[in-house]
Amino acid sequence: MSKKILITGGAGFIGSHVVRLFVNTYPEYQIYNLDALTYAGNLENLTDIENASNYTFLKGDITDESYINDLFEKNQFDGVIHLAAESHVDRSITDPLAFAKTNILGTMILLNAFKNLWQDQWQDKLFYHVSTDEVYGTLGETGLFTETTSYDPNSPYSASKASSDHFVRAYGETYGMPYVISNCSNNYGANQFPEKLIPLFINNIINNKALPVYGDGKYTRDWLYVVDHAIAIDLVFHKGENEETYNIGGFNEWQNIDLIKLLCVQMDEKLGRGKGTSEQLITYVKDRPGHDLRYAIDASKINQELGWKPSVTFEQGLSKTIDWYLSNTVWMERIVSGAYEDYYKKQYK
Ligand code: NAD
Ligand code: DAU
Repeated sequence: MSKKILITGGAGFIGSHVVRLFVNTYPEYQIYNLDALTYAGNLENLTDIENASNYTFLKGDITDESYINDLFEKNQFDGVIHLAAESHVDRSITDPLAFAKTNILGTMILLNAFKNLWQDQWQDKLFYHVSTDEVYGTLGETGLFTETTSYDPNSPYSASKASSDHFVRAYGETYGMPYVISNCSNNYGANQFPEKLIPLFINNIINNKALPVYGDGKYTRDWLYVVDHAIAIDLVFHKGENEETYNIGGFNEWQNIDLIKLLCVQMDEKLGRGKGTSEQLITYVKDRPGHDLRYAIDASKINQELGWKPSVTFEQGLSKTIDWYLSNTVWMERIVSGAYEDYYKKQYK
């Protein structure tokens, strides 16, 4: 069936993988990628599909209400897959208002435009909100986040995402808007902006720079290969139940320091450096304020109801990821010049 789908944040890390998957898998759909091209948005992530006949890029800001209302009126989107966001926890600590504006207000403006467009004619319409496991706060040494874990966000980033999740639910309850939400764990893979742990450390290892480990490095995250997240989003969009939430995770917990050591081993092998070379770059630095100790997802609902599971092991995914960064040095070099340098100096002074 032909559909017009708006994907927001499609020039970013996860969004670009979702756009690619939808453009290639569904030639009968028209895919519109709406992105403001902030520091995190990069059209180079999508050069392979930019000329596809079912793809349109729209440069625009989700917080610009009149632009968004006009866009929805003109294009009559059947579905929205909403990924646009400010996404980095450290930046939310230095500039929390930017997170409230994009993640809360921007989401509300999209919800409102979708509501005004379809009102009570909701058949075959869907608002899919892509969210994070960070809304659940932190776990202790044991336990897993399930879909019924209470929200308990700790950072301005996670509080803004939690708030946007609540607004999506409220539009479902109040206006009958069909919606699904997914809450995913840490993603890694090609095209991730090097402010996040894995690409930042890969870039620093290549350049023999210090690897800044926050606190004691014993924080735990559950890592998922980004292509597997995109596949899960496709499944939830097409087969997820209205008004349901799906947790998505890698069944793959790592303490930061163990992950970093594995990364160092793989990097030494690929760069032809002696064993233990990259590990010497590890430097313990001041901790992140409000640092969540542990995230871990119980992904059994999406596994049992929609048949999804990760397709690669962490060792395989990490190896593919490193290979991508080693073969795309121009992509990285363009990013790490200019504004990135200022960010890096301020964050790691
Ligand atoms: P990202 O920072 O790489 O990309 C965000 C994209 O949104 C960029 O292209 C940026 O230009 C765009 N954007 C930002 N503000 C905008 C605005 N006002 N209007 C239009 N576009 C705007 O983020 P990501 O890591 O790809 O995350 C995508 C989504 O997935 C986010 O909603 C995030 O909360 C969620 N998520 C991320 C992870 C992860 O590990 N990265 C895990 C779970 C959920
Ligand atoms: O859990 C999902 C979330 O994962 C997403 O919602 C966020 O958008 C995404 O950024 C990510 O958040 P984290 O804060 O977990 O990711 P980050 O890569 O920033 O950090 C991962 C861990 O590594 C965390 O414990 C902090 C630590 N870290 C990070 C950086 C950048 C360091 O020790 N040093 C660093 O320089």
